[in-house]
Amino acid sequence: MKLAIGSDHGGYSLKKEIIKVLDELQVSYEDVGCDCETSVDYPDYALPVAEKVTSGEVDRGILICGTGIGMSITANKIKGIRCALVHDVFSAKATRAHNDSNILAMGERVVGPGLAGEIVKAWLDTDFEGGRHADRIGKIADIEEKELTAES
Ligand code: RB5
Repeated sequence: MKLAIGSDHGGYSLKKEIIKVLDELQVSYEDVGCDCETSVDYPDYALPVAEKVTSGEVDRGILICGTGIGMSITANKIKGIRCALVHDVFSAKATRAHNDSNILAMGERVVGPGLAGEIVKAWLDTDFEGGRHADRIGKIADIEEKELTAES
């Protein structure tokens, strides 16, 4: 398992905590930035993580900003990305089992480091169940292919 991880300034401190967890778990990762608490734009970090996932350079990604919302909105614009914004352990397991989420987004201003670490562990440890859930993911892929708009 190899991960890509990224944050903006609003998620930088939590990213450092999550990296400690990944080190403890001996999970390898590539940190795409940011590297300090100077204000930056979250799409600039969501995009490289998403591209590394869709290219197969890494298996999955983790994105952190103040709320996790901007990161998840951005990542989900990239074809093939299923980014789940998660702030509880139940959802971390469910989104792996049912949605095969390939990016986990969290908000530093929403969740503390202890719970965030447990969320990461649950998300990494849970396998996709496939079956009917795979059919549903196929329908998401169909929507991506059609690039549907409100008018279509
Ligand atoms: C930055 O202030 C903040 O807007 C960002 O980290 C994130 O919460 C956006 O969704």
